[in-house]
Amino acid sequence: MKYPTTRLRRNRQASAIREMVQENRLHPSDFIAPIFIMEGENKKEEIASMPGYFRYTLDLLGDEMKELMEVGIQSVLLFVKVPDSKKDNEGTEAVNDKGLMQESVRFIKENYPELYVMTDVAMDPYSSYGHDGIVEDGEIVNDPSVEVLAEMAVSHAKAGADMVAPSDMMDGRIGAMREALDEAGFENTGIMAYSAKYASAFYGPFRDALDSAPGFGDKKTYQMNPANIDEALREVELDINEGADIVMVKPGMPYLDVVRAVKENFNIPVSVYNVSGEYAMIKAAAEKGWLNEEEVMMESLLAFKRAGADLIATYFAKDAARLISGK
Ligand code: PBG
Repeated sequence: MKYPTTRLRRNRQASAIREMVQENRLHPSDFIAPIFIMEGENKKEEIASMPGYFRYTLDLLGDEMKELMEVGIQSVLLFVKVPDSKKDNEGTEAVNDKGLMQESVRFIKENYPELYVMTDVAMDPYSSYGHDGIVEDGEIVNDPSVEVLAEMAVSHAKAGADMVAPSDMMDGRIGAMREALDEAGFENTGIMAYSAKYASAFYGPFRDALDSAPGFGDKKTYQMNPANIDEALREVELDINEGADIVMVKPGMPYLDVVRAVKENFNIPVSVYNVSGEYAMIKAAAEKGWLNEEEVMMESLLAFKRAGADLIATYFAKDAARLISGK
């Protein structure tokens, strides 16, 4: 017999056969678009460390929502930038039913009801210390923070949020939120848990975007050690048992093994957060002409699908969806 009889290159000979045997595909509905909102009027500010990504005032949000929907994006994940004068150690503004987050949710659900609205639930943008919980004697205290987070989730649900997305990494917050939501009559409001969120240096540009960098110390007493994966599975298991509807791994590209492990071990939708630093790296290299931005973007997004992610929160959402949909 002539060697070799098996030639894997046969299935790569032409684009038709390559597409026929393609194992994973991206679709606009895979993406969750993070949105940064700030106070004020008629302002759209580019985030210095995130070229091509903007913070919007509420009055300019509509156009962006329209553009996202035109290219087939179905969901947004909202973050707000809070002025220093409204920050404290108790999350007072976070639970203000008339706060910027709550008003933004109301605006989007009134004007674009088909958009699925997710909200960030964490105290850091509201915290005078830039931490995801209440600080006492230099410590981020768990249980009192969970109470605020649960209240925050209810406040977002009241405004009309479809799903709340706790990104804080306090213990027990998913259960507390589920209970608080159910008690308030929001049994259909979902929870996307940032279950395996690592203490990562890739969040730098995001903290610029929201002016939310920790004022002292770091987030290592609540976010996970990048060295661990068994612990990620324990976090996911707890969150599922406490009532999470979707679990998330964050960051994305350096943690594809974690995405795969979560997908293999649990039967639940898995999302991955392609974070600000990952976006910034690609943008910076592309600006220098060192990488082809479009190709590298699509290749990295596809890698999330291959790793097992069902959903991808990414700053590339609009660009990628536009390419895929051809609009
Ligand atoms: C904070 C939060 C962070 C991100 C989302 N929610 C930063 C942090 O934990 O310090 C990072 C997102 C990104 O980098 O794109 N609760």
